[in-house]
Amino acid sequence: MKKLFLLVALAFGIGFVQSVRAQQDVVAGIPVNYDESKVGDYKATLPDALVFNNGKPVRNARQWMRKRRPEIVKLFEKYEYGKWPAKRPKLRYAVQKDFGLGGMAVRKQVTVYFSPDDNGPRVDVLIYLPRDAKGPSPLLLNLSFSPNNLVVFEPGVKPGRRWDPNTRTANVIPTPPTLAPNPAMRIGMNETVRMFLQAGIGFATLNYTDMEPDFKDAAALGIRGLYLKPGQTEPAEDEWGAISAWAWGISNVMDYFVEDADIDAGRVALTGCSRLGKTTIWTGARDPRFAVVIPSCSGEGGAAISRRNFGENLAHITAESRYRYQFCFNYSKYADRVDELPVDANLLVALIAPRPLLLQTGTTDTWSDAKGEWVAACEAAKVYELLGKDALVPGADPDHVPAPDRPIYSTLGYVIHEGGHGVMPQDWIYYLEFCKKFL
Ligand code: GCU
Repeated sequence: MKKLFLLVALAFGIGFVQSVRAQQDVVAGIPVNYDESKVGDYKATLPDALVFNNGKPVRNARQWMRKRRPEIVKLFEKYEYGKWPAKRPKLRYAVQKDFGLGGMAVRKQVTVYFSPDDNGPRVDVLIYLPRDAKGPSPLLLNLSFSPNNLVVFEPGVKPGRRWDPNTRTANVIPTPPTLAPNPAMRIGMNETVRMFLQAGIGFATLNYTDMEPDFKDAAALGIRGLYLKPGQTEPAEDEWGAISAWAWGISNVMDYFVEDADIDAGRVALTGCSRLGKTTIWTGARDPRFAVVIPSCSGEGGAAISRRNFGENLAHITAESRYRYQFCFNYSKYADRVDELPVDANLLVALIAPRPLLLQTGTTDTWSDAKGEWVAACEAAKVYELLGKDALVPGADPDHVPAPDRPIYSTLGYVIHEGGHGVMPQDWIYYLEFCKKFL
């Protein structure tokens, strides 16, 4: 019994800790502001998506796509997430195909290897496609904190792995005999997968730490390890942090989708929550092949305005004791001068345009600053409009966050659920509606 408890606690990992997170006044020795009147004037220094670095205005869609957009991508690479290698690795795939979920789905378990070494960095992707599909299926790719065998709970799903930060080794997580479904934790999601399949949309999931562990000084243990020069132990200041490493891995998984004749790679949506929400939006920004992007509670270092000092701020997230390693090291240099940061979340949101983007947040998720995401979206709306797409609602006001559980399904969409950090059962319905509309 004790063993089982330990196993499940381990499997829930970070997500579990997240769900019981209380509002703290000081994090990493840095005070946290939860008072809207003390947020400060962040608007004055906010970079403008439609003004080039040289101060000239962006006049049309062509200038945005050809010049301003690439300029902004470079800024995010340099100052926030870090560059990833231009050269793609030679990928290898191992594909196992059968049927799943009581026979309603074609089930594929694909291992994408990033190197010639079978024990090197690799990721297991569990894919369900509607069995009665007449042609290639669209799909939603879910980034998970859990190994695949805890996400979809049924016989035959390959046991995944989880890293132990103390021993710095990855251990196999056996499938437990029972598992209570919990959509917020993205485990036991059989019903959610069925719901997508019934709508003709496939569902795929992967465990992000397959590609690289999520702790400090771990670059050498993951895919970044394949690119370190002799003698180099960590990436340079403008080179990829962990989020960029995961994003790059996911972009390589897209390369597999392109090769799989059962998948319509032009209709792939991407979702993830929290640090995986950050990973989702950065992947979508870097790899325009993702047709629909759905970051959940991505907060600081994601879709929430960094210059708004509310909840987690840049100093908290890049504290050495916390998540400095998830970003390029340049990012932490702005901890005490965020108003000088050459980028902010409004630019990140704009990088997804003209593709559909649904930002999902929560009313009591103060740490992730749901309002900061709304403000970023209101700012980025003008880019969507320049590209001829609808954004939010007419006259969207940065100071008025929409009412809870009233999703806005515009090309630039937003929804705030009643509740805290994570994905509520109704959020999966919102994602499905958004995918049905736009995929
Ligand atoms: C921490 C971190 C957040 C992050 C979250 C998560 O709370 O401060 O920025 O989103 O972890 O990934 O669960």
